[in-house]
Amino acid sequence: MSAPEVKYTQIFINNEWKNSVSGKTFPTINPSTGEKTCAVQEGDKADIDLAVKAAREAMKLGSPWRKMDASQRGRLMYRLAELVDRDAEYLARLETVDNGMVIRTSRTSMKRGADLLRYFAGWADKVHGKTIPIDGDYFCYTRREPIGVVGAIVPWNFPIPLLFKKLGPTLCCGNATVIKPAEQTPLTAIYIGALCKEAGFPPGVVNIVPGYGPTAGAAISEHMDVDIVTFTGSVEVAKIIQQAAGRSNLKHVAIESGGKSPNIVFADADMAYAVEVSHNAINTHSGQVCLAGSRTFVQEDIYDEFVKRSVERAKKRVVGDPYDEKTESGPQIDQEGYDKVMEMIESGKQQGAKLECGGNRMAGKNGYFVEPAVFSNVQDDMRIAREEIFGPVQQIIKFKTIEEVIERANRTSFGLAASVLTKDIDKAITIANSVQAGIVWVNIYGVVPTQAPFGGFKMSGLGREGGEDVLNEFCEVKTVIVKIPGHQGISKL
Ligand code: NAI
Ligand code: MG
Repeated sequence: MSAPEVKYTQIFINNEWKNSVSGKTFPTINPSTGEKTCAVQEGDKADIDLAVKAAREAMKLGSPWRKMDASQRGRLMYRLAELVDRDAEYLARLETVDNGMVIRTSRTSMKRGADLLRYFAGWADKVHGKTIPIDGDYFCYTRREPIGVVGAIVPWNFPIPLLFKKLGPTLCCGNATVIKPAEQTPLTAIYIGALCKEAGFPPGVVNIVPGYGPTAGAAISEHMDVDIVTFTGSVEVAKIIQQAAGRSNLKHVAIESGGKSPNIVFADADMAYAVEVSHNAINTHSGQVCLAGSRTFVQEDIYDEFVKRSVERAKKRVVGDPYDEKTESGPQIDQEGYDKVMEMIESGKQQGAKLECGGNRMAGKNGYFVEPAVFSNVQDDMRIAREEIFGPVQQIIKFKTIEEVIERANRTSFGLAASVLTKDIDKAITIANSVQAGIVWVNIYGVVPTQAPFGGFKMSGLGREGGEDVLNEFCEVKTVIVKIPGHQGISKL
């Protein structure tokens, strides 16, 4: 199996393909080889302005999109989901060349993307208001109206699911959008532009502008005519975006920005199962997962055995060609991602943690491949226990009591996810109720259902993606009050 032909590399505005206003392009690099795949049109402020104008036009009262029945919006979304299904194998192979994601994960990504669209398509005609029994001779109801133009800034780690987590609620609530995919992985997002057109979305509803963060991304977050920015990525950039929103038009900001999630293993857990779950919690997609279980807390009675078995498992992990069906992990996303992982591994060694295995560049490979690493003897104040590494680096940390592990698990500025592995229901529920995290798993890791809310406590985010809760972020609520004759509308005649 190999890389597919790239069909689209341009900017998508008003259902048309355009070159960048500046005439500039940028290369997209295959992380498995370090080689350029193709040149992509490089959007900047001028292109974002055109895209926002198109989206605003699509949102005008009386426009085809504003006049469309909500159920019809849902039908277009179902159609888009079918087109993603139709082209899923092509899209999966395209994702693997652009992202380095193993082909199995790319395939799951496409299925998940289509499922997200279908879930939100079902909501399109269910975004209800309320009637409210207010005091006086009035009839009061609320409408949930579209918020307007949605700026979506998407990261590279799961380009399609993370894009559709934003596009789903955008469309079902009747908004228009300007999407900026990550500079590392623009290709599948650009292709989705062609599918939106084929599905029949009116011009301007979906616009896609590939480009860099500090230029195209910043132009979205600073724009005076964008109503909400929905962002997934680093805390550092999340803060820049929130500041830009405050400096410009006070646009809403929805953020999902990663974590340092505790995965807590009690001595009574099934050892083999716990080792496997914990290994995958940090190694899936080469550790480049916001919800990665990046602090493995293990109770002292089983600590040594757990470390030994985790090392055996890490050494067996198949890292290499992402197109090979047997491969478990591909490369890191790019040189910057690779350098960050290596720098963090070095800091772990220097601060006195014990590197049990891995942590080197894979021999004989030009891409950004890292051997899965396991650290033992990790202390809470080490950088590897505090900062997001975004790589295949497992920190195994010893604890004694449940009270102590709860306190230590929460001693972080993040709060995205947590898990507990135990056979004792009391311990499980105590942990679930005590950890500060947007999602908690018991005896499993990493299940993120399409239908349930997902998001972070503390610096892991603002708002929720997925599930019904996200709809609040993408709507404005309008209260309407109508004067009616007589008491509560019952005529006094
Ligand atoms: P990043 O936060 O720089 O990039 C994410 C998105 O934001 C990209 O589309 C990028 O172009 C855009 N962006 C960058 N600077 C911007 C700016 N000034 N204004 C507006 N948009 C901007 O993340 P990066 O550099 O790719 O990765 C750095 C670290 O961030 C990773 O090592 C990881 O720790 C974390 N991260 C977390 C993710 C998550 O799923 N929560 C996803 C990607 C990265
Ligand atoms: Mg960055």
